[in-house]
Amino acid sequence: MFSLLTAVIGSLQFGFNTGVINAPEQKLRAFFNATWMERYGEPIKPGVCTIVWSFAVAIFSVGGMVGSFSVGVVANKFGRRKSMILVNILALIGGGLMGLCTLCSSFEMVIAGRLIIGLFCGLFTGLTPMYVGEVSPTPLRGAFGTLHQLGVVIGILIAQVFGLEYLLGSDKLWPVLLALTVLPAILQCLLLPFCPESPRYLLINLNEEEQARKALVRLRGYEDVGKDMQEMKEESAKMAMEKKVTIPELFRTAAYRQPLLIAVMLQLSQQLSGINAVFYYSTGIFKSAGVTQPIYATIGAGAVNTVFTVVSLFLVERAGRRTLHLIGLSGMAISALVMTIALLLKDIEAVRYLSIAAVFAFVAMFEMGPGPIPWFIVAELFSQGPRPAAMAVAGCSNWTANFLVGVSFPKLEKVSQNKGEV
Ligand SMILES: *[C@@H]1O[C@H](CO)[C@@H](O)[C@H](O)[C@H]1NC(C)=O
Repeated sequence: MFSLLTAVIGSLQFGFNTGVINAPEQKLRAFFNATWMERYGEPIKPGVCTIVWSFAVAIFSVGGMVGSFSVGVVANKFGRRKSMILVNILALIGGGLMGLCTLCSSFEMVIAGRLIIGLFCGLFTGLTPMYVGEVSPTPLRGAFGTLHQLGVVIGILIAQVFGLEYLLGSDKLWPVLLALTVLPAILQCLLLPFCPESPRYLLINLNEEEQARKALVRLRGYEDVGKDMQEMKEESAKMAMEKKVTIPELFRTAAYRQPLLIAVMLQLSQQLSGINAVFYYSTGIFKSAGVTQPIYATIGAGAVNTVFTVVSLFLVERAGRRTLHLIGLSGMAISALVMTIALLLKDIEAVRYLSIAAVFAFVAMFEMGPGPIPWFIVAELFSQGPRPAAMAVAGCSNWTANFLVGVSFPKLEKVSQNKGEV
């Protein structure tokens, strides 16, 4: 449990950095404006301000894309545990850059910091599930695997709470809010040396049987780990038999075409559903809907998100993947429609609450299927040989779609507010 909780700090970090940019939007825009004023002696043009702002939000996904692509290499070169310690250095650099941006009057530091933090998060979205999967006992692997998703949504919620105006979301303290990611990084670095290295890595990658046995004894708390050792050896033998498939081979082989199409489509449906428009920008959305305390509605969305993640943990093993994914997506479509109608009628007091309810329903439906399923479906669709390549392609499609939504949403919002006039 100690090792799992230490590793899950990485999931928390991913969630935190996804949600943290939401609340301080106005503060960041004012900061961009002030820096521009200082440098060029004139206020920033609203269009330029929106571009800088959406760039600061979305460049996170570019870092994430590179990070998720590099997980395999890093994890096999340094081992799981040392990789996590090394990757935390990125959090210190990224958090430091963002925390010091006002002192240096540099909005480039926010953008650079977001890029590095994205890299850090991309690496952890691979490292945490990998380590958790490898140290968990087989019968509990599925249940413990969901800890990652739970860590992510709790991280989002924490970011939203700390983003409150009277906590760290104030005019003076918002850089501290962005830099807060440094603290869990330090905590994790202090705890990791007390966690055993993944026995699977020690045995399969390094062929250190005695070390692997010792790690297993520490993890399980009993001496008789013969069964686990046997299982890992069988897996190792299976891996040696099945040739590793490269990414170009994955695209060329006809047999992989359908599973690859399914995997990529599910990733795209997760991101292009627009869920991150809610997690990056919901405070702004609620504000334009006329909600007087938009930040509380944002926190509410985070709480609904957490609750429904737990609900879906129970559902996902009972109903099929396809059923849940379809229910989730149709529910999101209906909620989006209700939200649109509510925003059109926002001058009526009661309808404002309908728009909040619609956002909550949107988030809840997301966690029923499109949230958790794409993350583990790739492992279910591919056998050992093509799995790493498929994971890389799926991860890359996910982050690319994440970037597209992040970068285009503010512009789309502006365009639709002007009733279509660009
Ligand atoms: C920038 O600040 C000035 C005042 O210093 C203000 O008039 C202007 O509207 C601001 N521009 C934006 C895009 O926020």
